[in-house]
Amino acid sequence: MRDTSPCPPRPEAAALLDWYDRHARDLPWRVSPADRAAGVVPDPYRVWLSEIMLQQTTVAAVKSYFERFTQLWPRVQDLAAADDAAVMGEWAGLGYYARARNLLKCARVVTDVHGGVFPDTAADLQALPGIGPYTAGAIAAIAFDRPAPVMDGNVERVMARLFDIHTPLPAAKPELRAQVEALTPDHRPGDYAQAVMDLGATICTPKSPACGICPWRDPCRARINGCAADLPKKTPKKPKPTRHGHIYLGHRPDGALLLERRPDKGLLGGMLGWPGSDWDLAPEPAPPCAADWRDLGAELRHTFTHFHLILRVWVADLPDDIRPERGHFVARRDFRPSDLPTVMRKAFDLWKGNQG
Ligand code: ADE
Repeated sequence: MRDTSPCPPRPEAAALLDWYDRHARDLPWRVSPADRAAGVVPDPYRVWLSEIMLQQTTVAAVKSYFERFTQLWPRVQDLAAADDAAVMGEWAGLGYYARARNLLKCARVVTDVHGGVFPDTAADLQALPGIGPYTAGAIAAIAFDRPAPVMDGNVERVMARLFDIHTPLPAAKPELRAQVEALTPDHRPGDYAQAVMDLGATICTPKSPACGICPWRDPCRARINGCAADLPKKTPKKPKPTRHGHIYLGHRPDGALLLERRPDKGLLGGMLGWPGSDWDLAPEPAPPCAADWRDLGAELRHTFTHFHLILRVWVADLPDDIRPERGHFVARRDFRPSDLPTVMRKAFDLWKGNQG
């Protein structure tokens, strides 16, 4: 239900909502401000799905995944009933595979424990798998119009500039959060949360903010002080270490490929991939079976959140009757490179490129 609190929004919130009414982005999971005003209510399942997908990934990258998921699984009950491997396959390429596993867990808890209805407060949402404070706030605000503070990287940047906060991140988070809480209006909090996101994505951008057309041009202290583009300050990150590994692309004369499902726990957990060694400083080769493995001679490089990875890629023609110690053969017609996480797809592309 809409909040009817008499407390008037601060002028900043009112100016931003006015801007949002004219400039809201058209996004597949979004109810436009005009439709919202006409009484259209967002579908919490779509809001939740989009927020999980958008954690650390761009709107542009998420759109096609969102369309595909909602076509395949239009309701939370459909997703709950989906085959795990099918969901992991559709998630491939989005990264952060623990999220896909939590996505399924959450869909099943909502279906089995909550009768298919998402809880409507940030506190109850946060009790669900894969929903942290940010996502709980975003869903409570966007799906249920609750005045929950919503703070992601974009919002932090916008707040640091609006209030000219020079404390470096992450130490600045409590200070920024206090500002977010003070500014979040009781009136249209869902639209307001999305408006701040849109402002951060389209105007208050990291490198060259378009201050001249910003609805917060006048109150923005960093613009007045000429330092908008220098904020937020950040504590320098430690450089990422580089790890190394070996992976093995084996195929039979009938075209079948030797793949393995990775253990549920750990990096790329539950995803399909090529068998390989551990990834560490000086890994031992670890072929999945004895064969004439040939070094492709090209280094495969990939960067994860916490480290860079350099892989040596080995390929082999495997005989029809081989029984590998690891992995299982997947018929060529059943193999979709898009089912693989990005690093594994890069290996496949290297191999294909090498075949000419
Ligand atoms: N980033 C995170 N959540 C978002 C949303 N709902 N709309 C646009 N960008 C977002």
